Amino acid sequence: MSEALVWISGGSGGIGRALAAAVPWDGARVIDISRRGSPDLEHVEADLSDSASWGTVAQSFERELRAFSGDVVVFIHAAGTLEPMGFAGEVDSDSYARNVVLNSAAPQTLGHGFLAAAREVDARRHLVMLTSGAASSVYAGWSSYGAGKAAVDQWVRNVGAEQDERGGVQVISVTPGTVDTGMQAHIRETSEEDFPKREKFVDLHEKDELEDPDRVAREIWKLLDRDLDNGAVVDLRELTTASDE
Ligand SMILES: NC(=O)c1ccc[n+]([C@@H]2O[C@H](COP(=O)([O-])OP(=O)(O)OC[C@H]3O[C@@H](n4cnc5c(N)ncnc54)[C@H](OP(=O)(O)O)[C@@H]3O)[C@@H](O)[C@H]2O)c1
Repeated sequence: MSEALVWISGGSGGIGRALAAAVPWDGARVIDISRRGSPDLEHVEADLSDSASWGTVAQSFERELRAFSGDVVVFIHAAGTLEPMGFAGEVDSDSYARNVVLNSAAPQTLGHGFLAAAREVDARRHLVMLTSGAASSVYAGWSSYGAGKAAVDQWVRNVGAEQDERGGVQVISVTPGTVDTGMQAHIRETSEEDFPKREKFVDLHEKDELEDPDRVAREIWKLLDRDLDNGAVVDLRELTTASDE
């Protein structure tokens, strides 16, 4: 049995909650980083769209890893938001700024904090960022969301190369597919004026073609045992298809 310590940002909902329920090591300690928390998980309360919260998260990494003597350490950054859906120059400015901070600055800074705290830890170490096809495809209404995911992907490529040099933490970025979560429900509730491609997502829902978060979570966990390059940016749908062939 492995002694595992896992942080999941956004463990209170959607894919993050499914990831927490599917942690592949018996008896693992799982710490959720979110605003709401979850009754089954340890909780670091943080509104990650406010940079003042990041110190609390870094302290959690440092405190727990200083005392850690187990086999596996993981940080999965799943927290993210589409809010406010709409066009740059039209949406609420404060809300737009929070989107930029949460989707772009938070993953990089929290990722840095995790790497610093995990640097001397003698264990298997993984850092996983949740990204999106929106990092490279154009979606009017998701400007800072797509830009944030593109930033995360490039951060992962660079940091993966750095960690490879040091024989350090395995760092990857994963596109999960179109998954049946609160985020998708929110897309369907948005007007076409704010998000012109809304119908595509309504159709996927009506045809029952959204991915099941529990299945997606199991596939993400399996990635940790695959021989991926450090800094790999992967699309779960392509990997799943490839391994099924
Ligand atoms: N669902 C999809 O189809 C899809 C597709 C591609 C990529 N993704 C990515 O996958 C990740 C998870 O998405 P999801 O669909 O599971 O989203 P979700 O259902 O909306 O859940 C989002 C999670 O992020 C947390 N979060 C949101 N704002 C936060 C804040 N300001 N501070 C701290 N935590 C915050 C939420 O917790 P609290 O509300 O408790 O704070 C919640 O646990 C995201 O990074 C998303 O971009 C999703």
